[in-house]
Amino acid sequence: MPALKNALHQIQIDYKTLNKNEKRIMKLDTLQKLYTNELRDLYNAEHQLLKALPKMAKAASSEELKGAFEKHLEQTKSHVKRLEQVFEELDEKPKGRTCRAMKGLIEEGSEILREDGEESILDASIIVAAQKVEHYEIAGYGSVRTFAHLLGQNKAAELLQTTLNEESETNELLNRLAESTINPEAVRETELAGASSGR
Ligand SMILES: [Fe+2]
Repeated sequence: MPALKNALHQIQIDYKTLNKNEKRIMKLDTLQKLYTNELRDLYNAEHQLLKALPKMAKAASSEELKGAFEKHLEQTKSHVKRLEQVFEELDEKPKGRTCRAMKGLIEEGSEILREDGEESILDASIIVAAQKVEHYEIAGYGSVRTFAHLLGQNKAAELLQTTLNEESETNELLNRLAESTINPEAVRETELAGASSGR
């Protein structure tokens, strides 16, 4: 009865897969493990940003925006060091785990850097990409800060809070730059483009 044999074989395969998946879920069985996983995600994300931020600074036309990225690059170096201190508190070697989300955000950002267009519109577009990155980091640091508190890792919680504050401040600085100069300039460019195309 080959049909029955095939069906049994399929069930065996399904069972093996199920066990494997269950094992994967079972592995993440403590808050400590989740905390470490998220720290590794952030450690890798920060390293990706160390490479991306100089490119963003170079691509920005506004001097203020360039300055904001340069400042954030320096802060990012401290973020990496703080994470290393947090790993030390855990007696863990600092280790990253590829952050696919940051990879995607940076990839999208690089697409903008290759675009041709009006300076202020491109700057507005770079700000969108940078704010998406900041929001990702704010979510990550907010979570690990809370986990650190829950696990009684008070020194680590403090370090993570300091970085979280800097990520939030960067996001607010980008907001201010967009609202005060770059967006109004982008509106002007848009009106000019409309006028020259006879609309
Ligand atoms: Fe950071």
